[in-house]
Amino acid sequence: MEKNNLITGTTALAMTVTLSYIDEGDTVVDATCGAGQDTVALADAVGGDGCVYAFDIQEKAVRRTEERLSGCGISNAQVIKKSFVSMGEFVPDGSASAVVFNLGYLPGGDHSITTTADETLEGLECALRAIRPGGVVTVVMYDGHEEGKTEKQRVMEWAAALDPKQYHAAYVNMLNQQNHPPEILWVTKKKNGA
Ligand SMILES: C[S@@+](CC[C@H](N)C(=O)[O-])C[C@H]1O[C@@H](n2cnc3c(N)ncnc32)[C@H](O)[C@@H]1O
Repeated sequence: MEKNNLITGTTALAMTVTLSYIDEGDTVVDATCGAGQDTVALADAVGGDGCVYAFDIQEKAVRRTEERLSGCGISNAQVIKKSFVSMGEFVPDGSASAVVFNLGYLPGGDHSITTTADETLEGLECALRAIRPGGVVTVVMYDGHEEGKTEKQRVMEWAAALDPKQYHAAYVNMLNQQNHPPEILWVTKKKNGA
């Protein structure tokens, strides 16, 4: 059987690693649901006993995600038209096995509606509160546009400064590829400092 060549596709790599942290029945968060692709993958992973909270600030993204979910017959995802900084209103602290951020703007949508450095850093703090020990925060970052460049830099500084006794941060960059391919950051909350 042909193997999936994981390092050639950033979003597939980001999701494959994320899924390794998720069990059926888990609570997970799609912080930026966009067109709903990640929401569907997460909902499949947690199954009918699990739950996905999916956030986006755009009506268009919420609609596209809801349509995608219903097209796949998925009913274990709640799509919320709010910023990811509202995560704590829905997701109890320490309850999620994964929180996924796919930063930037909606492909095929309004490019001026994009994640911003300040709000993303606030959202990442919310995500660290939401995940349980052993859980993961996944961030797919794009630095091919101005806001994305600043945002990536600030996110990387934030991750590098996390307490190494509590968190482990790892980063992937497609070193030799053209046109600013997305980059991936993962942060996991250590169990008992291990
Ligand atoms: C790259 S797209 C996400 C793609 C999506 N994960 C998918 O699988 O299709 C980024 C999304 O982030 C959303 N966004 C921007 N700021 C946000 C915020 N503060 N909270 C939640 N979503 C936000 C945008 O509206 C856009 O839909």
